[in-house]
Amino acid sequence: MAGNWKMYKTPDETRDFFEEFRPLVAETEGRDIVICPPFVNLPAATASARGTGIHIGAQNLHWAKEGAFTGEISGPMIRATGATHVIIGHSERRQYFGETDEGVLKKTIAALEAGLTPIVCVGERLEHREAGLMETVLCEQCAQGILGLDPQQFAHLVIAYEPVWAIGTGRTATPEIAAEAHGVIRREVRARYGPDAGARVRILYGGSVTPQNVQALMAEKDIDGVLVGGKSLDPASFGAIVNF
Ligand code: PGA
Repeated sequence: MAGNWKMYKTPDETRDFFEEFRPLVAETEGRDIVICPPFVNLPAATASARGTGIHIGAQNLHWAKEGAFTGEISGPMIRATGATHVIIGHSERRQYFGETDEGVLKKTIAALEAGLTPIVCVGERLEHREAGLMETVLCEQCAQGILGLDPQQFAHLVIAYEPVWAIGTGRTATPEIAAEAHGVIRREVRARYGPDAGARVRILYGGSVTPQNVQALMAEKDIDGVLVGGKSLDPASFGAIVNF
């Protein structure tokens, strides 16, 4: 159950969130929880989550360990804050910051080398879906962005299916639409890494997840978790999603 805060909240607001959120998940069992705030909030978030089992992740990283890359943040820097996860290739990064499948693969390898669990996002745009190209686009994004890893690296990966038309739009994929896409991704993983890896890989659904629709989404066997944007900003709504 992953929350992506995008470009919201300050360090003080981060601490306030955790004050309220921690008791809501204190008794929660059998759910892995990760919250991904903006970079500057990582120290506040890891301090607030200490001793709780809640994992903290970043929303992006650079593929180099260090170097002359003004404004960028590396995997080892993120790891040093105590964060354990990182979102890579989110559609907003692809759409507004020119990220490509090739860059996603480089960043994924950098994350793994830094000891971070990458949550790699794939997903088609509305025009792809309307043109019947959902499967083609997903296969291409997987082939170029994820399936280039060696099997040991792949074992540490989490995949997020985020149809671009469902993100921040209030338009959720129906459980059936999401499950169909998850099935395509799982099939590609199985073909590349074998049946065990296909069964084991975690595939999250993201795009307008709410406390109201999480249960139906999670009832699909190919949906292993959710990546939540807007509804992860409020402790009560994210708590309700985690404890659905
Ligand atoms: P949303 O965002 O839940 O606000 O649609 C999901 C995401 O972009 O990760």
